[in-house]
Amino acid sequence: MKHLIAPSLLAADFLHLQKEVEMLNESAADWIHLDIMDGVFVPNISFGFPILEVLKTVSRKPLDVHLMIVEPQKFIQEIAATGAYLMNVHYEACTHLHRTISAIKEAGMKAGVTLNPHTPVHLLEDIIQDVDMVLLMSVNPGYGGQKFIDHSVAKTKALKDMITRKGLNTLIEVDGGVNFETGKRLLEAGADVLVAGSFVFKSPDPKQVIADLKKL
Ligand code: DX5
Ligand code: ZN
Repeated sequence: MKHLIAPSLLAADFLHLQKEVEMLNESAADWIHLDIMDGVFVPNISFGFPILEVLKTVSRKPLDVHLMIVEPQKFIQEIAATGAYLMNVHYEACTHLHRTISAIKEAGMKAGVTLNPHTPVHLLEDIIQDVDMVLLMSVNPGYGGQKFIDHSVAKTKALKDMITRKGLNTLIEVDGGVNFETGKRLLEAGADVLVAGSFVFKSPDPKQVIADLKKL
């Protein structure tokens, strides 16, 4: 499968969100990555349901929602109502991960589990068969524009090995500090989806950067 690109709207111009989403609609982006933060699970607050609601009316790309919040299971119906394609919950935020993953799928969404940089992939041994995607954080969640954590490449490889060994087709998405150089290394290690925030939106030609990430 050709890899997918999911630009993160966190780095977009929030005064002109409609224009930014229309640019993504016309671009080679596969999904739009949306970062929801609660100021508790991560030390920052981003945006919430009112923004997701309006985005759904403009976006022609599937919405990849990344919840950096405690107790994400409380909001499965609300996220489903925004028309989200994929709902990612953090491993570290879910006491009953299997129940949460099942509920996300019952609500009609693809289910993703996200790992913080310090959480080892082997903790997924008994849940990976039930998830559609694993989202590996290659920075500590909470902010855009941070430095890529180099160990994420080895972690991607370890996860890919686990997926292959089990004969699964679980997707691997990587999020944080992605650019042409880190993106290439992640793809070689087995990543399927690259999230990129600042690298896309802070460039003079975001559409071209997305096209070039797609060609890596
Ligand atoms: C960070 C978010 C990311 C963020 C990535 O907590 O999960 O999606 O937008 O931003 P960059 O690509 O700038 O590291
Ligand atoms: Zn994210």
